[in-house]
Amino acid sequence: MRITLKHIALVIVGVTFATASAQQKQTDTDKKVETLLTKMTLEEKVGQMTQITLDVIGKGKDRYSSFEPLTLDPAEMKKALGDYHIGSVLNTANNRALTTKKWFEIISEIQKTSIQLNAHKIPVIYGVDEIHGATYTAGATMFPQQIAQAAARNPQLVEKGAAITAYETRASNIPWNFGPVLDLGMDPRFSRMWESFGEDPYLASVLGVAMINGLEGKDNNIGNPEKVAASLKHFLGYHATASGKDRTPSYISEDALREYHLPAFKAAIDAGAHTIMINSGIINGVPVHANYTILTKLLKEELGFKGLVVTDWADIENLHRRDRVAATDKEAVMLAINAGIDMSMVPYKYEVFCDNLIQLVKEGKVKQERIDDAVRRILKVKYALNLFDKPNTNPKDYPEFGSKEFEKASYDMAAEAITLLKNEGNILPLKKTTKVLITGPNANSMRTLNGAWTYSWQGEKVEEFAGQYNTILEAVQNEIGKANVTYVPGVSYKMDGHYYDEFADKMDEAIVAAKNSDVILLCLGENTYTEKPGDLNDLYLSELQTELAKKLSATGKPIVLILNEGRPRIISRFEQQMNAIVQTYLPGNFGGDALADILFGDVNPSGKLPYTYPRFPNATISYIHKPSEEQKKAEGVYNYEADYNPQFLFGDGLSYTTFGYSNLTIDKTQLKKGNNLKVSVTVTNTGKVTGKEVVHLFTSDVYASSVTPDVKRLRRFEKIELKPGESKTVWFEITPADLSYIGRDGKTILETGEFEVMVEHLKASFTLIE
Ligand code: BGC
Repeated sequence: MRITLKHIALVIVGVTFATASAQQKQTDTDKKVETLLTKMTLEEKVGQMTQITLDVIGKGKDRYSSFEPLTLDPAEMKKALGDYHIGSVLNTANNRALTTKKWFEIISEIQKTSIQLNAHKIPVIYGVDEIHGATYTAGATMFPQQIAQAAARNPQLVEKGAAITAYETRASNIPWNFGPVLDLGMDPRFSRMWESFGEDPYLASVLGVAMINGLEGKDNNIGNPEKVAASLKHFLGYHATASGKDRTPSYISEDALREYHLPAFKAAIDAGAHTIMINSGIINGVPVHANYTILTKLLKEELGFKGLVVTDWADIENLHRRDRVAATDKEAVMLAINAGIDMSMVPYKYEVFCDNLIQLVKEGKVKQERIDDAVRRILKVKYALNLFDKPNTNPKDYPEFGSKEFEKASYDMAAEAITLLKNEGNILPLKKTTKVLITGPNANSMRTLNGAWTYSWQGEKVEEFAGQYNTILEAVQNEIGKANVTYVPGVSYKMDGHYYDEFADKMDEAIVAAKNSDVILLCLGENTYTEKPGDLNDLYLSELQTELAKKLSATGKPIVLILNEGRPRIISRFEQQMNAIVQTYLPGNFGGDALADILFGDVNPSGKLPYTYPRFPNATISYIHKPSEEQKKAEGVYNYEADYNPQFLFGDGLSYTTFGYSNLTIDKTQLKKGNNLKVSVTVTNTGKVTGKEVVHLFTSDVYASSVTPDVKRLRRFEKIELKPGESKTVWFEITPADLSYIGRDGKTILETGEFEVMVEHLKASFTLIE
């Protein structure tokens, strides 16, 4: 089609009209909210600021569980939704997934009761953690977890996956998702590293925005019944604990907080995300839920966040009971609300929160304006979700739920995420006639492929719901026929008790079976976990699994180590004896199929590590580090271990083909401050099969005056596909923001001087001038 001036004019008129009507809608909503605020009592407002968990209103012997099958308790509903005017409910009951039909029944009844009992007919906003698919919905499409999505380095796939999750969440009558996770996964010890996009702020920013676009839509029109409100979490600096354990103190300087932890949140706020959840931890001695500087000054004022700020689980009472910065529950409520919290995920003892907050307002210790600000934010999200007009979404309107097309999107993500870390003598791909032994505790488990937040909080109920999908064993059997496959577990996870308990399970038999096969597929890693239950004392892979690896290697048979783990457990005690290593992360319900296709050459791997894989427990430094981490051994004097020598590097990932990089060019060697730099590089497929390659562009600021510069930082990346012999020139543009850094005072600095641009092994230098 020829584009004429008329076409352009029509587009401009269209866009202007759409913008004008969106603005009009916003003004109308604002008016409705203000009118409502004038009519609401203090008690009703406080109710809107309160969130309870579903078990509180489920029929049961107490508030902490419900009878099965789940039904709602009319008396408890009357008290919570009527007498206390509660405005929000979260979570599933009994920590178990429900069908879309059951969700519809339950939430419709909650909405009906709430609207009936509420003087202003305000519906409830229901929220659930749908971090890699509709977590608590049976039959939903489970995607690879975020850490794997980061390895795929493909924002389009992330956006598509998030759009499917939004659709299936609405098919479950749920309009609010507690995701994406935008914490920086910079500590391999941390139990929630796999919930993040890995250790790089730029990567997390790009993929976070892609996820917002998928969940909320690019226009953030969450009134669309196929979209949900997203909740960025956990603001701010959650994974950076000193001990590596969940919800323990962090010490983060102002410059580090802004340089590393803030960018992904800022990008997602700029992308229009409607809600945000707060870090349950403590930074520089101050619990974040009581930190006015972070919640109000930074988030609401500086970043201009207009949405709803919700606490994490029980984090107001934690100020009193755990962190002891408040001598009573009442003081804890005062601290949190005055710091800038809008809604309390109580989630059980709502009377304590509501009664205390009402009293605090009456005593003048919490200002009425603070309450109005909080309720205004909450009501705006409810209007934006169109809950007043359409409080429910019915599964019958979501025919694509769990469809083949959705499953394919999950498979595609897994196929692009799985990362080939080692391939000695090109042992992979294997021939389909190979006789394999499959062994290891992760070989025949849907639970470990998915990780936690899958049909239940810790993932322990996965097998109940995921029987129709293929474990690694089943996928390999489908790929090469059962006759070619022997399976002996060797080591198994205990399914009860502590999450890491393991036992030797026919280890001797596995060694015998190894001798009778051509290749061993050794599936090691972790069982599922998140939050406190995932805290860890030893980053080495378990002793039993290490023993299995060593005994198998003594047979002399080639071993393909398949890792299935949420964080990089150290493998240096036996890595050298492994012929190939494939990292699957937590690849979801189709991870087994994608892996089998990679092992036997139907798919060429293209995943890249989203973190640094440590070689030793005392060397867990990420690729973003200061020059002093790389002090080389002094010649013949002392034997110090201060060099930077991880097992695998951020960005590592092999292919069945090879890529050559050439012609790194920059358009200026003297760049004037404020201008952009154009960079290009040519990539050639120098091997024999078509492959996808991720081109990473890093920069270095050679000298920086306020704080020591990082050795290098990722500034751009692009995933391309090349046929054998084909070349492509990839263009990037570096902006002043990419060359600046945060100084000691928390302010952005752009300094003249020498910079370097790096792509693969190529390097170019330029000088930034006034
Ligand atoms: C987690 C959050 C989650 C919340 C609600 C908390 O324990 O830290 O990530 O959104 O529970 O389930």
